[in-house]
Amino acid sequence: MGQVVEKIRLRVAEKTTLTAHVVELHLVSEAGELPPVEPGAHVEVTLRNGISRQYSVVPSSSHDEWCVAVLREADSRGGSVYIHDELAVGDVVEATEPRSLFPLEEAPEYLFLAGGIGITPFLSMIEEAERRGRPWNLVYTGKSAETMVYASSLRSRYGQRVLIHETFGRTRMDCARVISAHPRAEVYCCGPTSYIDGVRTAAETAGRKVHIEHFHGDANPQEDDQAFELELVDTGITLTVPAGRTALDVVDDAGVFVLSSCREGTCGTCETPVLSGEIDHRDVVLSPEEKAENSRIMLCVSRAAAGTPRVRIEL
Ligand code: FES
Repeated sequence: MGQVVEKIRLRVAEKTTLTAHVVELHLVSEAGELPPVEPGAHVEVTLRNGISRQYSVVPSSSHDEWCVAVLREADSRGGSVYIHDELAVGDVVEATEPRSLFPLEEAPEYLFLAGGIGITPFLSMIEEAERRGRPWNLVYTGKSAETMVYASSLRSRYGQRVLIHETFGRTRMDCARVISAHPRAEVYCCGPTSYIDGVRTAAETAGRKVHIEHFHGDANPQEDDQAFELELVDTGITLTVPAGRTALDVVDDAGVFVLSSCREGTCGTCETPVLSGEIDHRDVVLSPEEKAENSRIMLCVSRAAAGTPRVRIEL
C-alpha cells in the first residue's frame, strides 16, 4: 500500500472569483517557507472534510504563496463544491509537496493543447518555454472565451501564439490538423477525458508522441459494470463488489482498513497487491506497462476485468 505522505499546512490568504465557475486560491505556508515548484507540477490538497484533490500550481507574483485554480465540477463529490461554497480566507488546508508528473522536457518547440481547466499546468510551462527561449503555441479549447479562465490575459500577453477555440455552437477542434501544423513540436495535452482521448487518437494516428496530464481517474460507475468477488487473502474473507459500488467502499464496510485519500484514482494511496485475477484499471497512477503487469489495484476506482469473476488481493 502507499506510504503516509508528509503534509504542509497552508492558510488561504486570498480567494478570487475568476469566472462563474472558477475560483483562484492563494495559499501561504503556516511555517513560513514553501518548497519550489517545477513547471507543470501539482499539489494534492486535503480539505477539512477529508477529501483530497490535485491542482496544478499556477504562477504567482509572490514566491511566498502557491496559487491554484479550482473549477466547480458538475459531478463534484465534495471537493470543488466545498472549496467554492465553504472554504474561506483564513481557513487552513493541508497539501503535499509539489509533484511533477508532467515535466517540460527539452525540445526544439512545444505545442500545448488545453481543454477547459486543463489550461492550469500550461501557465507555468509557457513561462518555462519562454525562459528557455523555445518557440511554443497554445491551443486553448473551451465553451466560450468568457468562461475560459486566463484566456484574455494569455492573449494580451502572448498574442497570436495563443489560439482560443470556442466550441459553443462551433465545430470541435480538428486535433489532427493542429498537430500536423507543428511537425517539430513536442505535444502536451491536459483537459477532460473526452478531450484527451481525441488528442491521443489524433496523435497516435499521426505517429506522434503526446504528453498527457490527467486530473482524475474514472471514478464513476459504468453501464456494463458487473459484480465480482474480492478475496482478501490475509484477512481470510471474500466480499462481493456489486455494480455501482467501488471495491474500496465494500472493503470499508467490512471493517477492513485501507488507507485512502483522493478516492478517484489519482494519488496511489489505496494501491493494493493483486495475487490473481485480471483488473480493469481505471486509475491514472499506474503506467500502461504497470497496468499490463496486473500486479496492483487502486481499490477506489478499479474493478475486475469483464469475464473475471474473482480477484484475490493481499489484504
Ligand atoms: S485513494 Fe487515491 S488512488 Fe485510491
